[in-house]
Amino acid sequence: MPAPRRLFVTTALPYANAPLHIGHIMEYIQADVWVRFQRLKGSEVHFVCADDAHGAPIMLKAEGEGITPQALVARIAAGRPQYLKGFHISFDYWHSTDSPENVELSQDIYLRLKAAGLIYSKPVEQFYDPVKNMFLADRYIKGECPKCHAKDQYGDACEVCGTVYAPTDLVNPYSSLSGAEPVLRTSDHYFFKLSDPRCADFLKSWIDEPGHLQAQVANKAREWLEGKADRPLGDWDISRDAPYFGIPIPDAPGKFFYVWLDAPVGYLASFRKYCELKGMDFEAFLNAPGTEQVHFIGKDIIYFHTLFWPAMLKFAGTPYKVPDNVHVHGFLTVSGEKMSKSRGTGISPLKYLELGMNPEWLRYYIAAKLNAGVEDLDFNPDDFVARVNSDLVGKLVNIASRSAGFISRHFGGQLAATLQDPALQSDFATAGKHIADLYETRDFAAAIREIMALADRANRYVDDNKPWLLAKDPARLADVQAVCTQSLNLFRLLAIYLQPVLPVMVAQVETFFQAKPFAWSDAAHPLLGTRINEYAPLATRVDPKVMDVLFGLPAEVAPPAPAPPAAPVAVAAPVKPAEPGAAEITVEEFAKIDLRIARIAKAATVEGADKLLQLTLDLGNGERTVFAGIRSAYAPEALVGRLTVVVANLKPRKMRFGTSEGMVLAAGPGGQDIFLLSPDTGAQPGMKVK
Ligand code: MSP
Ligand code: ZN
Repeated sequence: MPAPRRLFVTTALPYANAPLHIGHIMEYIQADVWVRFQRLKGSEVHFVCADDAHGAPIMLKAEGEGITPQALVARIAAGRPQYLKGFHISFDYWHSTDSPENVELSQDIYLRLKAAGLIYSKPVEQFYDPVKNMFLADRYIKGECPKCHAKDQYGDACEVCGTVYAPTDLVNPYSSLSGAEPVLRTSDHYFFKLSDPRCADFLKSWIDEPGHLQAQVANKAREWLEGKADRPLGDWDISRDAPYFGIPIPDAPGKFFYVWLDAPVGYLASFRKYCELKGMDFEAFLNAPGTEQVHFIGKDIIYFHTLFWPAMLKFAGTPYKVPDNVHVHGFLTVSGEKMSKSRGTGISPLKYLELGMNPEWLRYYIAAKLNAGVEDLDFNPDDFVARVNSDLVGKLVNIASRSAGFISRHFGGQLAATLQDPALQSDFATAGKHIADLYETRDFAAAIREIMALADRANRYVDDNKPWLLAKDPARLADVQAVCTQSLNLFRLLAIYLQPVLPVMVAQVETFFQAKPFAWSDAAHPLLGTRINEYAPLATRVDPKVMDVLFGLPAEVAPPAPAPPAAPVAVAAPVKPAEPGAAEITVEEFAKIDLRIARIAKAATVEGADKLLQLTLDLGNGERTVFAGIRSAYAPEALVGRLTVVVANLKPRKMRFGTSEGMVLAAGPGGQDIFLLSPDTGAQPGMKVK
């Protein structure tokens, strides 16, 4: 047997300004299936991720909410486990780039690059917002298109006529943060000298060496490196001026690392923290011969991961090591539509879970569609229902459910001592080699096709041997046991092969067989003469109607059938139809509502009320208490200091815990998806909202 591998595996660090969307979940499912496969093969795998906490957007969003960026990041981080546990993503550790480990590692890598002569600084002229007192990234500058004169265009390209330009080309530019006219200012920026021949030489050989990158990805990286593509290779601006939420650059007061410098270092920071907690030696692990460092990412961030990141690691030197693989995937689209960052996505992962849909349906569906390429893949509701119902329920589970009863009823749960068709069994075991190769190369779609072809064969075997007919003839009982022992053993191999995709269902299969947790090598040894447990349903069908609810269609739907006791299905949450609009009102009627800006001065949980937070609101002219049903979405400490909108003339309401003197405004269906309103920067407590 080959020596077990030692793997350090990561997924891209999601920005900590929003909950996870279904595209993130897809990336985690891809990586998790691969990681679980490696573990099943006996490899030592450490699988980590973290929140990408730094940068201007997070700083500005926190400011808009009237909270610190740390509080914003903490609130988002508190929401992560629901998603990760919910979809059975087996990360060993989840950290943050806003951590002492990341400060130390980022500064260390920077200082080593500097010592290697790869860092320099030079003055850069850039737009500056004289009201906000900060330099403006291009995305915060708007103005009139210099070509077609469309108004309110972004600083990089016109959405109306498609012209690409620099922010300085805009007519009447303005800052989208303050509305002020930006001025050009000069400041020193720090650069990583990617154009140094040492970098170019190293990257060329790293990219060309087979095994690091998919062919399509290597081609793209090579084009960039040679400066042929849309993005000529230049030096990399790694600094930002204060105010910035980031890691200070040593010896450069007022300068911070650009978020994309410390973000990938966050992979190492997370792993180092995890090593500390586990008593592992971080540096020794990275430097041990044979350790593999593997990153899973989406196609939009190839540039950072195939040029900057390997070069940073290479020239920082030991103990850092260059990645062994960067695995790139395409984007998930939903019903053919691209997900937009601003509009969010077609499907909410939390809603999926709250509807009681089985997370393993999604894992299976995604695995069945993912290959090793970088093409996008589409989540299509009809396809989803058809796949899950026909493959998992119709084919896979069917093999066990039609065989197990005979063994329980006639043989006290005991399997026969020999197989009825050993050649068939060894065909199934041999197929495992090819399936393993497909998992290894991340062609999960092909692996699933192979496994389902085996499932068809297993079902045909049962069809041909008809245990239900044999069981009618007492003289043939031994044959019944042999046939069912055979088909259950075929089923067991399919379960082993599907364990990376369906870990919870397969754990139930292990229990059913009274077996230890499966290993890939178990496929070589059939289970004979041992006992099985009574069969309990392993999977249920998707009700197509639940898809309409998932996609937000206002359908009257009964909650999905309750899960059988042993099935890995979450309890169904009540399904609310979309809220109808209210009747028309006049301006006068609206004016009766006294809406005010309030600052949350204190926030606390309420004993005996697990949905409520007690808020002390500052309305400019004194404080009042409001009980708000937002505890499922907000940690109290994340709210203190932020601004929101309150209905100030609502009749006070006596509650069990005290009197509520108003109501704060929030949107969303509930649970994690509650979104408290906040005013734009500048609003003050007590201001009237009209
Ligand atoms: N914070 C950076 C990554 C830093 S890594 C050192 C970032 N964050 S992100 O939240 O925008 O994206 C995180 C990952 O999700 C990326 O790998 C990205 O490609 C992936 N996806 C974002 N949208 C996606 C889909 N629609 N489908 C699949 N993956 C997608 O980029
Ligand atoms: Zn234009």
